[in-house]
Amino acid sequence: MYFDNSATTKIDDDVLEAMLPWLKDDFGNASSVYSVGRKARVMVENAREELAHFINAHPAELIFTSGGTESNNTALKSCCVESKLVNTLLVSSIEHHAVLHPAEELARQGFSLHILPVDDYGFVQFREAAPFNSAQTLVSVMHANNETGAIQPLEALREVVPNAFLHTDAVQSFGKISFDMQRLQLDFATISAHKIHGPKGIGALFIRKGIDFKAHQQGGAQERNRRAGTESPALIAGFVTAARNAIGNMDARAAIMRERTVLLRNLLGIQIPQIHFNTPDNNENDILALPNIVNISFTDADRLDGEAILQAMDMRGVAVSNGSACVSGSVQPSHVLVAMNRPAAEGRAAVRFSVSKDTTDNEVRSAVQALAEIVAAMRE
Ligand SMILES: Cc1ncc(COP(=O)(O)O)c(C=O)c1O
Repeated sequence: MYFDNSATTKIDDDVLEAMLPWLKDDFGNASSVYSVGRKARVMVENAREELAHFINAHPAELIFTSGGTESNNTALKSCCVESKLVNTLLVSSIEHHAVLHPAEELARQGFSLHILPVDDYGFVQFREAAPFNSAQTLVSVMHANNETGAIQPLEALREVVPNAFLHTDAVQSFGKISFDMQRLQLDFATISAHKIHGPKGIGALFIRKGIDFKAHQQGGAQERNRRAGTESPALIAGFVTAARNAIGNMDARAAIMRERTVLLRNLLGIQIPQIHFNTPDNNENDILALPNIVNISFTDADRLDGEAILQAMDMRGVAVSNGSACVSGSVQPSHVLVAMNRPAAEGRAAVRFSVSKDTTDNEVRSAVQALAEIVAAMRE
């Protein structure tokens, strides 16, 4: 019972099928001038065009990367170092480490770094960005959080910082909710394939046309001199197929996932006392969270052991995760939950369920039953 689809997803059969020819007979280098290379080039450019269309961008605004981590690193580091666009970074406290760690590294190199706080529900306090409305600032706020699923209304952030460069990490939201570059008025955006049943190791970075962007990764002239390295036609074919499936079926998939997470919420609330929902609850008018995530913590977490809960769930055949990290042998609380003012003990013993279009009602029932029994036993 796989409930960790925010970590990664199972590759779809037709995605794998789309990749195989580019690993076998059509193995050419897309930069080569002879026919096996040109064939790969045509596919790569068609994929770029289709992906750009999905986010309402121009194909020249997309570069392929090795995934979300590289796209985030590239956006932040190129803006500061290679492209010399900004001297100040403003990032939210709940960013993925693939944004926080490069930001901290840039701060060590002398760039000015400021952190945008969130409220108790995990929504970034956009008002606090107002003093940073400058063309020398890059603001980076994720579209949807990977631990809680909270969606940040980025249009409102753009209104607060019209002059700043704006980047978003859309790894979790891409393919699950609408993501439109014209509407959101972003300068940079990160997307990745493996959270939407595509292959690992491939993503893209949107770079708005007109930005004087210099490559962070240097070498060959690929991606119009903006990202060196031989493109992987197989991964790109998988990426575009997964994106086509996700975007073509977005409403239907969201409806299935939402049904499962509503059931999860209801059963968790009934079967397990003393829990706190860290994922904001959608209501009729407002979609506040991704359809696929439910994150809970336990208000008596100091009596529980988060790692032991995950291991006991695994023994019962249920894969779930939490946002804590093991650093030098001790469990660090999730920085996201701490930023939301949850006590550190809760941040060490949260449980994140993330479903997919393939998750069944019965799996939900079994997983909640398993967690209820494990937590009850630990409490005793
Ligand atoms: C919000 C977010 N950003 C970035 C990443 C990293 O993406 P990738 O695994 O494609 O490098 C992840 C993956 O867990 C993520 O959830």
